Amino acid sequence: MNLTELNKVATAMVAPGKGILAADESSGTIKKRFDAIGVESTEDNRRDYREMLFRSNEAMSQFISGVILYDETIWQNAKDGTPLVKLIEQAGAIPGIKVDEGTQALPMCPGETVTVGLDRLAERLKKYYERGARFAKWRAVIDIDGGRGIPSMTAISVNAHALARYAALCQAAQIVPIVEPEVLMDGDHDIDRCYEVTSRVLNKTFQELRVQRVALEGMVLKPNMVVPGKKCPKQASIEEVAEKTIRLLKACVPAAVPGIAFLSGGQSDEEATAHLNAMHKLGTLPWGLTFSYGRALQAAPQKAWSGKPENVAAGQTAFSHRARMNGLASKGEWQSSLEQRAA
Ligand code: 13P
Repeated sequence: MNLTELNKVATAMVAPGKGILAADESSGTIKKRFDAIGVESTEDNRRDYREMLFRSNEAMSQFISGVILYDETIWQNAKDGTPLVKLIEQAGAIPGIKVDEGTQALPMCPGETVTVGLDRLAERLKKYYERGARFAKWRAVIDIDGGRGIPSMTAISVNAHALARYAALCQAAQIVPIVEPEVLMDGDHDIDRCYEVTSRVLNKTFQELRVQRVALEGMVLKPNMVVPGKKCPKQASIEEVAEKTIRLLKACVPAAVPGIAFLSGGQSDEEATAHLNAMHKLGTLPWGLTFSYGRALQAAPQKAWSGKPENVAAGQTAFSHRARMNGLASKGEWQSSLEQRAA
């Protein structure tokens, strides 16, 4: 393992003004997104859609540091035969790959899951590296439901263990692991409960990373923000989310970690941008802090495109706008008036 090289890639992934495009929806998830815009989820349509994003020159060259791909996409070629990976590299961004194989029910823990995909991961990583991937992603999912007494310490612990196993395998294959323990925002819990659970999850994750000898300098953390559940009657202000998220991250994430890139997790496009921006208003941070959004970067371009070739330019404009807004937020330079002007 060459840690200097891993650290260089991780640092580039969270460079100020740039963030990561999560375009790694599984076939099931992208079908749901396409259903919402009335597009059939065929291999060609998925390719055309993602090609549209990767050919958005303004977004890709100025505001996107890296792209997380799904297995199908990393092997696909653009319409003219150019590998999609090459389009990303030509724009100056780094190709990455989602390597987990989704979740499975966790025995003895009703309603909870463990993320799987460790078997044969070493061989898969080798092939992905040869194809151009320089970072990977593995997502663990932790749900909060007071009524059912979850999350259990069992779920937190097995998921942290798997994340660390994955991260160590990545580094051995000279690939930067994005370590993503996502605490869902689906329930009716309040913001302080989210703080408490996320704190437990991050502490356990870093404990496992240490036990399994993962070099913190060669990884990127992808956490949720500290937010109330969507069904909580008491929602939080932008400032409260920013303040509690930064307090938590400072308490749990060692400064050796080069960067943190948030998931959007179901926040609206503008909320996700405003939260990141507000965090950068709180003063100097020990790590790079940026976005690794899926929905909050793609909802607008998906709608603008709607599967029609004549809408490709509109889709690219919508994507470039969101990428620019988030790029500004990653430096604390975003203002809501910039959204209105574009609308
Ligand atoms: P969202 O931003 O839509 O949560 O997706 C990010 C991601 O990669 C989840 O694994």
